[in-house]
Amino acid sequence: MQKITTIDQELAQAVHLSLENAFPGVLPEDFQASVMRTADPRHGDYQCNDCMQLAKALRQAPRGIAEKIVEELQGHPALAKVELAGPGFINFTLSSEWLTERVLQLETLEGRGVPAIGEGQTVVVDYSSPNVAKPMHIGHIRSTVIGNALDRLHRACGYTVIADNHLGDWGTQFGLILMGYRNLLDKEALEASPVAELERVYVASYQKSKEDETWLTAAREELVKLQAGDEENLALWKKFVELSLLEFNKIYARLDVRFDLERGESFYNDALPGILEKLTAAGLLEESEGAQIVNLEEEKLGVCIVQKRDGGFNYATTDLATVFSRVEEFSPSTILYVTDERQQRHFQQFFHVAKKLGVKTNLEHVWFGLMRLPEATFSTREGNVIKLEALLDEAERRALEMVQSSSPHLSPETQQAVAKAVGIGSIKYADLSQNPQSLVTFTWEKAMALDGNSAPYLQYAHARIRSVLDKYAAQFPEGKPEEAPFQLIEPLERELGLKVARYGEAVLSATRNYRPNLLADYLFDLAQTYSTYHQSIPFLRAEPGVRESRMRLIKLVADTLTDGLNLLGIEAPNRI
Ligand code: ARG
Repeated sequence: MQKITTIDQELAQAVHLSLENAFPGVLPEDFQASVMRTADPRHGDYQCNDCMQLAKALRQAPRGIAEKIVEELQGHPALAKVELAGPGFINFTLSSEWLTERVLQLETLEGRGVPAIGEGQTVVVDYSSPNVAKPMHIGHIRSTVIGNALDRLHRACGYTVIADNHLGDWGTQFGLILMGYRNLLDKEALEASPVAELERVYVASYQKSKEDETWLTAAREELVKLQAGDEENLALWKKFVELSLLEFNKIYARLDVRFDLERGESFYNDALPGILEKLTAAGLLEESEGAQIVNLEEEKLGVCIVQKRDGGFNYATTDLATVFSRVEEFSPSTILYVTDERQQRHFQQFFHVAKKLGVKTNLEHVWFGLMRLPEATFSTREGNVIKLEALLDEAERRALEMVQSSSPHLSPETQQAVAKAVGIGSIKYADLSQNPQSLVTFTWEKAMALDGNSAPYLQYAHARIRSVLDKYAAQFPEGKPEEAPFQLIEPLERELGLKVARYGEAVLSATRNYRPNLLADYLFDLAQTYSTYHQSIPFLRAEPGVRESRMRLIKLVADTLTDGLNLLGIEAPNRI
């Protein structure tokens, strides 16, 4: 198979080679040349800032080093211009022929130019992971949407991905739920909305346990019975899990999210004592106030409790058992854990202990801030818990209104389908277009803005291109764009072509940094450039030949938008 590189990688390789030629044997060993796109097109298409950092190692002024590179790169087929700038920067302008060729390749290139950097490697993405008998809260929504985008991004880069929904299906809450279920249940409510009723029962039982000592004791006994494998309790527990999964799965179906594994915490229950043994063998286990702990004071991470005084195991213990199981079964190079910021400490602790126990896998906590929902966003909001279903319903309702007014000629079924794509897409994109670690406030106006950085904007830009292509096909039924010479004539055309050719770079950086918003930024920028192009360059009325070339270009833009949105889990309908 042909090895795909991105333009920045290709230029970086060229820079590296020129440095090796100009300074044989003296480059620092870990040095890797890097090239990035310019922020300002007046500085060319790409730039290299390495000379500043090399000055010391090469005992030369940055400008002197840059001059050498510029000299070496004269006549490089990809470059129309290589220029020295400022104290030692290098600016590159791509040659138009080379760029044209490169853009054209995208028509047939597998994966639209995304290099398969993950080939032969496995990544486990642990995401969504809601807790049984509790509705998904906004944190789980974000985990689901961000985790799913990371899942898709990694697959696009050639990784084997194991998407694992690490359900919170085991733990002390089940004693309380069992007590509540047996004594406080409203059967009708359970029929109507199982998870909400289970949660109500749990909360009520928890309240009672605070007021009533015997209730608490009874709940503890139920838990012990469950853990000891009591048949009746086990059957009820299974029922709780099934009811919850039924509800979660409805949401996953609406969000088009699929997991390879749904292994809850319970799956690792039998492996928990073995973790204590491992810790003992490694000399890491200490007793503190009756609990078993790993002391991480030296790392300034406090203590990590692995077994409570009452013998119960902790969240960290389960995560340790889980990591060993995953390492053994899948040999992943990386495991990603996608949760909200409140779990940072837990993951720092658990990663440290895992390392001490010899886990070599790269463990990454991809955390995100909590999303704020202004009071008025959502009518059925209860405290911090919002029901995802109602949020999605509302999104689809608003999108349907939008589609009905913008496309009254579409059939009601089509309108429904488009509204689903736009509504769900808006929710996802509002989440994914932000730096996950910044605090975001969700508003419908922003999420659904037709003129801003939103899913509807991108979907609209995409649909607009498809309709131009359809018009072309209707007006020129004999036309064969794929046979016309492809050319980038106007500066705007060149800019659009260059952006299309950068798709692979955008996907790579979003994947490598675990930040889907880098891809969202790219898509928004591409759509904006298209919009300017659309307004200022004639295509259907352009002269024959040029017209066909433009059809090829805009089709590439549309396909790039489709693929890019797809990696964010967002549909791109042909009409909106
Ligand atoms: N169930 C947990 C929660 O709702 C999230 C689990 C995240 N994954 C993990 N391996 N700890 O907070």
